[in-house]
Amino acid sequence: MVRKKKIAVVGTGYVGLSFAAVLSNVGYKVFAFDIDEEKIETIKKGKAYFSEKGLDELISSGLKKGLLVPTTSYEDYLHEADIVFSCVGTPDNCDGSSNLDHVFDVGKIVANLGKEGVIFVQKSTVPVGTGRKLMKVIEEENPNLRYSYISNPEFLAEGSAVYDTFKMDRVVLGGDSSEAIDYVLGLYKSINEGMEDIDLDAVSEFAHMYRAKNNGEEGFNVVKTNLESAELIKVTSNAFLSLKISFANSISLLCNQTGADINEVMDGVGMDKRIGRSFLYAGRGYGGGCFPKDVSGLISIAKEHGVDLEIMEASTSVNSKMPNEIIKEVKEKAGSLKNKRIALLGLSFKPGTSDVRKSPAIKLANLLIEEKAFVQTYDPKAMEEAEKELKDSVIYTSSIKEALEESDIVMIATEWPELTNYDYSKHINDIKDKLIVDCQNRLDKEKIKEQGFDYIGVGR
Ligand code: UDX
Repeated sequence: MVRKKKIAVVGTGYVGLSFAAVLSNVGYKVFAFDIDEEKIETIKKGKAYFSEKGLDELISSGLKKGLLVPTTSYEDYLHEADIVFSCVGTPDNCDGSSNLDHVFDVGKIVANLGKEGVIFVQKSTVPVGTGRKLMKVIEEENPNLRYSYISNPEFLAEGSAVYDTFKMDRVVLGGDSSEAIDYVLGLYKSINEGMEDIDLDAVSEFAHMYRAKNNGEEGFNVVKTNLESAELIKVTSNAFLSLKISFANSISLLCNQTGADINEVMDGVGMDKRIGRSFLYAGRGYGGGCFPKDVSGLISIAKEHGVDLEIMEASTSVNSKMPNEIIKEVKEKAGSLKNKRIALLGLSFKPGTSDVRKSPAIKLANLLIEEKAFVQTYDPKAMEEAEKELKDSVIYTSSIKEALEESDIVMIATEWPELTNYDYSKHINDIKDKLIVDCQNRLDKEKIKEQGFDYIGVGR
């Protein structure tokens, strides 16, 4: 019975920590490993070291049950684990390729400390071909270890990591051992069965971001493949989603010139089931720890194999110019931004997270600074993270109201509900240019105009 088994999760980032917390709440003993003492100390106190809806509660209850064991010591626990899920980071190298140092480190640790017959499951996003290389490393390190290796990419999105871990929409399992694949599949089924007591509504606020409303919610699809296909499915999915966004952003530039409204256009286009509405929301572009890195990683591995993925280069270039296009339009309407006070609302790369990695909102802040504007920022969750990036180049405030004080222009860079549902008309006299820039197209344009503001969206 799968449930009796002990599990190791290596790496306590968004993927690893959410997965470990969920598994410990459906009855598994889980060792959550990280090399960072500080992170493990925070988790031991019943908290994540980043903001993710519902995660702190699951960590606390996993700890209370004695089923979640956060640790930095592989020597103490790894040999007990029947399955090891590797969820370590794969940051990008300067040349756009993925840095796999941590991935190979975990391989060596499993080779040396892994239990006889252990199933080693790769959840980190790795370039196609990594699994075979890793198996070689393991076999060189410890030729006597009997083990199975599976690629099982993770598709959760930040802001809904807990929800997505319970309600995964598909499970992809690739490898040579069908026995190991079925074994891990059994574990996923048991998550689905074990979630009866979990209040999913409480963690679903950001679970349907950028998706068409009729998204199917029942069960999950299973895809069994060879090792290389599983590796490629993950990055190809992200690459395609990034293409959809960049496509919508390209068309939004045409909308700007013609009077069409990108939201209306994509509502109409997305009704075609062959296309779908999801991820066709135009705005200041995509950011975060996945899309930018996965796209550059895919371009890089394709190059290694002599394949030129021009289409992905185009996605990157459209994406990187969107913040500049917004600033250009603001300048066309408001004139020079020198010495203007801009209330920049929203800094995380998307709502529901404190993560500012490659956030287009941060890029907007930097472009405004280049224009010599004063930037007054506010974000519901990401202030601390943003300060590490923006240092003392902007003013940090603790509420929307404070950010709006003595401002000339308001820019909503990330569509947190707190920011998009706010009644800006209360402060119309504080906002000198009476201009609202809706960088993610979430405001009611007509209403804003009726209130006496000028409105700039992205393609509307
Ligand atoms: C993504 C994938 O969705 C997820 O399946 C994978 O496991 C990891 O990468 P994530 O990076 O958390 O998840 O966020 P996502 O919701 O996909 O958004 C990524 C970026 O694209 C955000 O900056 C978001 O604001 C932007 N975006 C998304 C758009 O600008 N328009 C859209 O239509 C969708």
